[in-house]
Amino acid sequence: MNLAIIGTGYVGLTTGTCFAEVGHNVVCVDNNAEKVEALLQGRVPIYEPDLEDMIVSNVSAGRLEFTTDLAAAAEKSDIIFIAVPTPPNEDGSVDLSYIEAVSHEIADVLRPEFGYRIVVDKSTVPVSTGSKVAQVISRYAHRGVEVDVVSNPEFLREGSAVSDLMNPDRVVIGADSQRAMDMMKRVYQPFNAPIVEVDLHSAELIKHAANSFLALKISYINAVSAVCEKAGADVELVAQGIGMDKRISRNFLNAGLGYGGSCFPKDVKGFIHISEQLGAPLELLKEVERINAAQLERFLDRIREKLWVLRKKRVAVWGLAFKQNTDDVRESVAVKLIRRLCEEGAHVSAYDPKARENAERELQGYSVNYCDDMYECARGAEVLIVATEWKQFATANLVKVRELMHLPIIFDGRNLLHGENAVHAGFEYHSIGRKSLYPSRD
Ligand SMILES: NC(=O)c1ccc[n+]([C@@H]2O[C@H](COP(=O)([O-])OP(=O)(O)OC[C@H]3O[C@@H](n4cnc5c(N)ncnc54)[C@H](O)[C@@H]3O)[C@@H](O)[C@H]2O)c1
Repeated sequence: MNLAIIGTGYVGLTTGTCFAEVGHNVVCVDNNAEKVEALLQGRVPIYEPDLEDMIVSNVSAGRLEFTTDLAAAAEKSDIIFIAVPTPPNEDGSVDLSYIEAVSHEIADVLRPEFGYRIVVDKSTVPVSTGSKVAQVISRYAHRGVEVDVVSNPEFLREGSAVSDLMNPDRVVIGADSQRAMDMMKRVYQPFNAPIVEVDLHSAELIKHAANSFLALKISYINAVSAVCEKAGADVELVAQGIGMDKRISRNFLNAGLGYGGSCFPKDVKGFIHISEQLGAPLELLKEVERINAAQLERFLDRIREKLWVLRKKRVAVWGLAFKQNTDDVRESVAVKLIRRLCEEGAHVSAYDPKARENAERELQGYSVNYCDDMYECARGAEVLIVATEWKQFATANLVKVRELMHLPIIFDGRNLLHGENAVHAGFEYHSIGRKSLYPSRD
């Protein structure tokens, strides 16, 4: 099928590439000319495992193109996907101006002679946005243009986006027209995934409800981790014990510094806001947010308790990305942590395998010593903080790290390192929801 994707970011670029991989002809559109130029020259603007090779092979097979020309893309595509940002407003509501702008542009360029078109919202939006998109198109499009609007929320995870897209647990399609539903099913037929066929509004709600539930699971285990710390229990064992119950599952029960990233914080906020607007407020999700924020504060308190005054303390931070296998630092807890440490006068060194460039932009005005190597980052530090769960940190040579550091203290904000190994290397080891471990004195 001939498909256009408007917005060539984490979602648009990976989705477009995977659609091409299964045989569709895809044109990815972005209004950021620099980004499109980079892609045309074979440079991929984001880091996502396996993505680059897949882009190269599909471009050379002639199934994947990049352009800034939305009109040309709309003319030759049966289906137009919208994958533009939906960031939060100050009041927690969702900024839908990008969606509105693209809807308007689509309305401007469609012509009756192109034939029937489907406009698909892939961005995460509050319930009933699809109806507004349909309204904009019917208001501004030329007479005789025939369009259906569909919701097809995306569930990929950054860091494993290609594999998530190629093997989805389910594909949600929300359409109020059978013709649109049938065409959308053809798009996804090569993926061999279960398709959840629902109405437009239910599809939109599924995405907000799913992300909020995952955030709730994270906050739940984080709240339990605080109890474990007081009680001298081990949150990892508790998570294992409850996670083996199939009704609960072990996924998303990792205690840590809290959820971050471009989705969970804004989607929880967005869901709270729309629920309030609709008169059915989701108070439960406010507690999810409160627990999430408290997790970083509790961690900082424990570091202060150990180091006393943070001013002039040399702190090494491993990790800047909001999670492993991505260069994305949007709403990264690691970045928030560094801001707080700098504000208290600590001398911060930081290392991340992929996210340095984005973090430098995000932390402009903060004096951080960015390192090219995790060992160099630890040199001379009085405490090492693990802030992102990159695999290479888990397998670091801790004896070498110990030799490089000034004081032997680790705060593992992701429960990533093997505590016993850290202790054998001579460290005192502090983590989340578990007893601190200390080297024996003999
Ligand atoms: N990132 C994720 O993990 C993820 C997962 C599922 C859903 N989502 C949702 O998908 C949507 C997109 O997220 P993202 O992370 O890909 O964002 P992103 O910022 O990485 O990409 C958005 C792209 O849209 C482009 N754009 C903005 N306005 C445009 C316009 N008028 N015309 C053409 N291009 C335009 C931007 O230049 C950018 O390249 C959001 O609603 C997000 O909530 C994201």
